[in-house]
Amino acid sequence: MNLKIRNANNSDKTEILKFCKDTFSWGDYVEHVWDYWLSEDHLFLAEKQSSVGICHAFYSKDQIWIEGIRVKSNFRRQNIATNLVKFAETIGKQKDLSISYMLIDTENSTSLSMANSLNYYIFQTWNFYSLDPKINSNHNVTFEKSIDTQLYSHYVKSWRWLPIDDKTLKSLCDENKILQSSIDENNSIAILSDSEHFDNTLIVTLFSKSDDSAVEILAFLQNLGIEKNYERIQILTKEKLPCFDTLEHKLSFHLMKKSLI
Ligand SMILES: CC(C)(COP(=O)(O)OP(=O)(O)OC[C@H]1O[C@@H](n2cnc3c(N)ncnc32)[C@H](O)[C@@H]1OP(=O)(O)O)[C@@H](O)C(=O)NCCC(=O)NCCS
Repeated sequence: MNLKIRNANNSDKTEILKFCKDTFSWGDYVEHVWDYWLSEDHLFLAEKQSSVGICHAFYSKDQIWIEGIRVKSNFRRQNIATNLVKFAETIGKQKDLSISYMLIDTENSTSLSMANSLNYYIFQTWNFYSLDPKINSNHNVTFEKSIDTQLYSHYVKSWRWLPIDDKTLKSLCDENKILQSSIDENNSIAILSDSEHFDNTLIVTLFSKSDDSAVEILAFLQNLGIEKNYERIQILTKEKLPCFDTLEHKLSFHLMKKSLI
């Protein structure tokens, strides 16, 4: 039976979610993002006699962000993921985009093999930490009115690494979403964004330049969590963070990159 790839629609939801609920030891997040991905478009579905796989692509400035690759367990190793990713890449090439990214848990060797086989390489490795909201007035941070986008080219928005173009930079600065700790000459920078998929969830891209300056930012975030009623603070950083009250290292991810030209 030939494989067909098409755009998913709402009537596919039940069948897809049936095989996307126990993907990982902790479950899966597809049920929480399905409606959102559908509304954004580019939610691709692979079909044999029935639905056997999905993947979502988000096209921006100069890049494709590929996410949510799922293949029904009894249909794996039949090039279904390969075809889904290639389908998403072909659309990206038609849009003249030059780079494709995906994020893979460093422990997910199957998915890493799949990405390698499609010529993606490990570009960067990021750590995911959680931090609990807590009253903490011990912080020294300022809001930035600009940053060097050559140095800080991307930030994490709803778990996508997106480019910071001029328009994004302006709105982040206008909304006081870029922080700098001013404790020492090694200024750490943090970029804040609200999750578009989960309520009361703050997502932080942290560029830590020293433990002391990172601690200032962590204290600020912890307190902000109380002030703004966040339930969860999720921190993504390339650096290893110092020990800090309620800060917990959860997972590490490889940011996989491929040139499309
Ligand atoms: C990862 C996943 C999407 C791969 O889907 P798939 O359709 O089986 O992958 P493909 O058949 O296209 O595999 C392409 C290549 O990847 C590699 N690969 C795939 N599965 C592999 C495995 N279990 N072990 C080793 N290599 C593997 C192989 O190189 C394979 O080529 P080959 O079969 O010619 O050797 C699928 O296993 C899955 O749904 N896993 C759970 C969800 C998940 O981890 N998603 C990715 C999150 S980032």
